[in-house]
Amino acid sequence: MTEKMKPAKDAFSKGLEGVVAAQSGVCRIDGQNSQLHYRGYNIHDLVRYSTFEETAYLLLFGNLPTAAQLSGFEKQLISERNIPDEVVRFIQLFPKDIHSMAALRTAISYLSFFDKEADDKSVEANVRKAIRLIAKTPAVVACLGRAQKGEKFIAPKTGTVGTAASFLYMLKGKEALAIEVKMLDQYFILLAEHDLNASTFAARITASTLSDMYSAIVSAIGTLKGDLHGSANSRAMESILEVGDVSRVESYVDDALQNKKKLMGFGHRVYKGPDPRAIDLRVMARTLAEHNAEQAKWYAISEKLEKAVWEKKKLNCNVDFYSASVLYTVGIPIDLFTPMFAVSRMAGWTAHVVEQLSDNRLIRPLSYYVGRKDESYVPLAKRG
Ligand SMILES: CC(C)(COP(=O)(O)OP(=O)(O)OC[C@H]1O[C@@H](n2cnc3c(N)ncnc32)[C@H](O)[C@@H]1OP(=O)(O)O)[C@@H](O)C(=O)NCCC(=O)NCCS
Repeated sequence: MTEKMKPAKDAFSKGLEGVVAAQSGVCRIDGQNSQLHYRGYNIHDLVRYSTFEETAYLLLFGNLPTAAQLSGFEKQLISERNIPDEVVRFIQLFPKDIHSMAALRTAISYLSFFDKEADDKSVEANVRKAIRLIAKTPAVVACLGRAQKGEKFIAPKTGTVGTAASFLYMLKGKEALAIEVKMLDQYFILLAEHDLNASTFAARITASTLSDMYSAIVSAIGTLKGDLHGSANSRAMESILEVGDVSRVESYVDDALQNKKKLMGFGHRVYKGPDPRAIDLRVMARTLAEHNAEQAKWYAISEKLEKAVWEKKKLNCNVDFYSASVLYTVGIPIDLFTPMFAVSRMAGWTAHVVEQLSDNRLIRPLSYYVGRKDESYVPLAKRG
């Protein structure tokens, strides 16, 4: 082992905090100044002016598309939207009480069996698989959501409607309101990419072994499932429902802090100030509340929770906090919240896999050994 490779204790950073583990041109986070850019474009501009499809194109190909490129890309997505009957039937066989992310992980893995290019490692095939995954994941998630309730699969819209409208139609079996479509589209833009977060890192590690696109994505889905990562959105909504009324916010926060419980949807490894996505999501949650009096209380509780957590613990809310009331008000069941995150993040994950493979080196770090040393082997019969 060369000196360079010898693991030194001071080189160890628990949770890899502060470690630079990749070179990437997909996304730039400035955690000190609460800035987030996809391929050089500020997230606030993208959420205001772009669409999920255009943002996915930007992430995957590196540039904003021309009108012709965007229309071609949208057509490709639409033509790839449906999922094989075998995948629908397989999902319908899943037990009813499983974790929705376990279901998504298994369904996407199964989907790979129907992709003739699954093991084609060329850049062109990887880009085609990326487009297929971005296009098909909404149908997989809608199918999962309906199957869990014993309902039949509804095929995606084939017309010119975007991903958000098609998804809501597949999930609910009816046309969604324009505001619901708009908010979901913005949600998809905001969640599409976030640098070397845990699930993207997992995808890049798997890709770096020269495994395949689907395996990398399945690794990412398994990683997103965790409460400290993607599942924080559903856990945040559970907290908001548990609070139940604005009058109970203060006592809920006091109790959580006293008992050292994690407040879901708060805190961030990288942002030292506000999470820029939470700024847009707060506006979206407020807009939805203004349009839906029945659901407005979730925004009111969220707003008060955010203030109380800041006053008592100086913690900012993160992307998952206002995602919760946005998704809930749009009518997404709580157990589909994290799969919704995956629908959006598919764009970022696949862009990172393509990037990783464009200049690949096996990702294989070291550990600093703290276990026992120089033990003498005792034969089994002599161990007591
Ligand atoms: C995101 C998260 C994992 C980042 O963790 P991290 O960088 O490892 O930060 P730490 O867990 O070391 O937290 C640092 C301090 O803030 C506190 N803290 C951080 N997030 C907290 C939360 N959500 N609720 C209560 N306290 C929190 C920790 O208890 C710790 O306090 P201490 O120094 O008094 O012990 C963490 O903030 C968290 O668990 N958040 C809740 C889950 C969540 O919302 N995840 C989605 C992230 S986008």
